Amino acid sequence: MEIPFENQVKKGNRFQFGKNWEGYLGTISEEKIHNAEKSLMEMLECNDMTGKHFLDVGCGSGLFSLAAMRMGAFVFSFDFDPDSVKCAQLLREKFFSGGNWKIEKGSILDKQYVSSLGQFDIVYSWGVLHHTGDMEGAMRNIDFLVKNDGKLFIAIYNDEGKNSVRWRRIKKIYNSGILGRYFIVSIYFPFFFFRSFFSDILKFKNPFRRYYDYKSQRGMSMFYDWLDWLGGLPFEVATPDAIFEFFKERGYTLQKLKTTQTLGCNEFVFQKTGK
Ligand SMILES: C[S@@+](CC[C@H](N)C(=O)[O-])C[C@H]1O[C@@H](n2cnc3c(N)ncnc32)[C@H](O)[C@@H]1O
Repeated sequence: MEIPFENQVKKGNRFQFGKNWEGYLGTISEEKIHNAEKSLMEMLECNDMTGKHFLDVGCGSGLFSLAAMRMGAFVFSFDFDPDSVKCAQLLREKFFSGGNWKIEKGSILDKQYVSSLGQFDIVYSWGVLHHTGDMEGAMRNIDFLVKNDGKLFIAIYNDEGKNSVRWRRIKKIYNSGILGRYFIVSIYFPFFFFRSFFSDILKFKNPFRRYYDYKSQRGMSMFYDWLDWLGGLPFEVATPDAIFEFFKERGYTLQKLKTTQTLGCNEFVFQKTGK
């Protein structure tokens, strides 16, 4: 039985992603929505989702659900954090222009809930399964949601060994209370800023350009992504091989892969081809 969201937060075991999305919501523009659409098109290799059933597991702000809806899909979104659900609903209110888009609170770890949802042509879960507290259980459950021949697009934090262990400790401090949060932000925001500033200067690049360019990758905001990274708990990681093997055993074929050499996410698009 999953521990209720509020109790996890109180115990310092869960970051309030939804609160972070509330801040990010104000920054969403047509350009960011367009970049989110572009990221789906590129990885899923399709420009049109007309008639497809798209499931967004851990929808966060709802940006990618909105993008899928604009590409013609019937969209269903859910998230475990009530504030994420609220954000997605606000986004729908602001940018909705007709179509079929349902949003609700739910957890990918809740087997009974998951089995009530049916199966979808495209299941999208970017940066979510490693934040559930039981990544393997979440991966097992997500399999039930993908139709035969359907696509599964997931992104999972890369396993960086000791470095990942160190980051889990930092995230624990961040979530320990207000002091922990200010302590971590006051150290790491300047660290992130100066590290990239000097790296760009050494490469003769404009050090401020990256802040402008950041939104072109998936339509995100660097500021809110830094907070998400510093706080993002629960936190698990996996190597690309482990994810590949897990889904291969369950009858999936890898269609597209984007890996990282650092602490970011590896992205996978699988097709359920059957065993
Ligand atoms: C880093 S955010 C990613 C949001 C979105 N997928 C995106 O790409 O922008 C992770 C999201 O997963 C949600 N989440 C965490 N555990 C979950 C669970 N058990 N079931 C569903 N969503 C969950 C969080 O509330 C949060 O909104």
